[in-house]
Amino acid sequence: MRTIRTVAELRATRRPGESVALVPTMGYLHDGHLSLIRAARHQADQVVVSLFVNPAQFNDPSDLDNYPRDEARDAELAADAGADLLFAPTPDEVYPPGFATQVRVAGPLTESLEGAHRGAEHFHGVTTVVTKLLNMVGPDVALFGQKDAQQALVIRRLVTDLDLPVRIEIGATVREPDGLALSSRNVRLEADDRQRALALSRALRAAEGTVAAGTADARQILTAARAAMTPFDVEPEYLALVDPEDLSPVSAVDQETLLAVAAHVGRVRLIDNTILAPPSSNGAANGRH
Ligand code: PAJ
Repeated sequence: MRTIRTVAELRATRRPGESVALVPTMGYLHDGHLSLIRAARHQADQVVVSLFVNPAQFNDPSDLDNYPRDEARDAELAADAGADLLFAPTPDEVYPPGFATQVRVAGPLTESLEGAHRGAEHFHGVTTVVTKLLNMVGPDVALFGQKDAQQALVIRRLVTDLDLPVRIEIGATVREPDGLALSSRNVRLEADDRQRALALSRALRAAEGTVAAGTADARQILTAARAAMTPFDVEPEYLALVDPEDLSPVSAVDQETLLAVAAHVGRVRLIDNTILAPPSSNGAANGRH
């Protein structure tokens, strides 16, 4: 596997007739990223992993400063998972002097949930850099994780609205054995906070249990989910049952519903989600995270 830093080098590696898969990342790779790289391996002749900690999507400067980085380790892990190229551009390569363009998805997709708490600017930073990465790499398929469910929806909207010639695939959330969703930020959980971080996945499991027991009422499901977080002394920043296509709040789980949660645990802000299927479908979607 080669590491390259410029668009010119990237374009020079393009082999005519060969398909390309892109896995965009901000590095500090974990099994969630690696599962996407492995899936990409089955989807295309060439697998490109991008590594760029995108300043434009960080609303909190200390989060950007403290974002973990280890390119040498990432290169090794990406190669082992089947990547052919690691595209690790400098900030100047992505944002040349005079950079003045932004790509925005407007409306509730970027203004609700994460957008309401981090600011929609976060998603404008994501869509701008993802548009750039797609243009730089020109992949046939790009892979994203369900862990960032709202981001995945926003990117699908972007690709549809701008007719970007790429297929978007979404990979399932990869978790630690105890249920914690893998995240590059997990390494910043100190001491007790690693255990307290379980509050998020426990809330999701409690909601799934409530639905499986026959309850469709959103308020009851949210109450059960919130109660599961209390023993961990973690308050959700938001805990919401929403339509998985447009993120509008729902009052009952009478069709597939996205349960999304965000919470600060110590110094770290974590998110997680699950898709709930209505009670009548015999819990067919339970266990899908
Ligand atoms: P990053 O947080 O590094 O995540 C890169 C990709 O890995 C995203 O598509 C994310 O959803 C996926 N991912 C993260 N944790 C996962 C898990 N536990 N299971 C499965 N997939 C997981 O998301 C970003 O970077 C950036 O916003 C980016 C899209 C690269 C734009 O800068």
